[in-house]
Amino acid sequence: MKCVKVPLKQLNDTRIKLMENGQMNMEYRIKAEDEFGYIPVNEDVNDYELVDIELEPMKKVAHNFSELLEGELSNDEIENLRTSFDTIGDIVILEIPDDLQSKKQIIGDAALKFTKRKAIYMKKSAIKGTIRIRDLEFLSGTDDSVTIHKEHGARLKLDVREVYFSPRLATERKRVMESVKEGEKILDMFCGIGPFPIVIARNKNVDITAVDINEPAINYLNENIRMNKLKGTITTYCGDVREVSAGFKTKFDRIIMNLPGLAYTFLDVAVDLIEDNGIINYYEFSDSYEQGIKRLNDACKQAGKEVEIINCRKVKSTSPGEWHVAIDGKVIKKNS
Ligand SMILES: C[S@@+](CC[C@H](N)C(=O)[O-])C[C@H]1O[C@@H](n2cnc3c(N)ncnc32)[C@H](O)[C@@H]1O
Repeated sequence: MKCVKVPLKQLNDTRIKLMENGQMNMEYRIKAEDEFGYIPVNEDVNDYELVDIELEPMKKVAHNFSELLEGELSNDEIENLRTSFDTIGDIVILEIPDDLQSKKQIIGDAALKFTKRKAIYMKKSAIKGTIRIRDLEFLSGTDDSVTIHKEHGARLKLDVREVYFSPRLATERKRVMESVKEGEKILDMFCGIGPFPIVIARNKNVDITAVDINEPAINYLNENIRMNKLKGTITTYCGDVREVSAGFKTKFDRIIMNLPGLAYTFLDVAVDLIEDNGIINYYEFSDSYEQGIKRLNDACKQAGKEVEIINCRKVKSTSPGEWHVAIDGKVIKKNS
């Protein structure tokens, strides 16, 4: 079998180049040995050392993810993997359980072939820390973690290694956007790369203030503002919202609080900054709505206000029995 011989370090880049040029022979498996890798080719390729060695044939040309992993994983394992896919622009992030770690490369390559995206990354940790990002391990394709994700017509640029972003919140963002009235003054206290502000300001003539403590996230939001045609305006601030907002001279008709693990600790700030009859879109992780409703109630009571709960919903499941829940509350001054 005619193969290109390359040092192992160059195997992935060479493979991608040969695939892109249509020169790779997809009917045989790539072989990796101590120092060199061997990529089957179907023609003479300039600029590379060509050798003739035996390679294992692919069983058959696979068309879908299950076929690509047939014989390697059980049907249940394949189905579980498939539901773990998060596609962000031309990047796929997947979760590989501990007992399949020895097959992560085969899975990554299959996901690349199946999704035809630029890169496949594997989750290496939970989302953690103040800036809510996770460790990722590159598995297959091209190791470039910057991408542009399209959501409801918006273009959102981000680096999956540096900022928080979840495509699974798209329906929630659309729902919030649809409930926004023209002319609203909105504060997004934990805006990240700005999916709420961008989706809302593309559709509504509103005035949005967006804050995040993660500098790369604010830099991407500033780029996203330039990249999208907006009806409304977005002003960005980088820093801790408790400190940054101390300088705000205005109150807001709506405050978005999507930091579900800790948003409750900022409710005093939100309740102080909300206009009379303004809406707080509050989020938390919980197995019910009661805890969040109580927290909203308590924060309002402390400030001499009342809250009328307008809507509660489950945004997404986070673990068995626990949800990322949304609670919309209208804040009213007592006796007003
Ligand atoms: C769960 S992410 C949500 C991002 C965005 N709203 C979205 O839907 O993609 C929470 C964000 O809050 C930011 N953050 C955490 N603590 C903060 C603070 N004290 N002040 C401002 N931003 C904060 C993090 O950097 C992160 O980008």
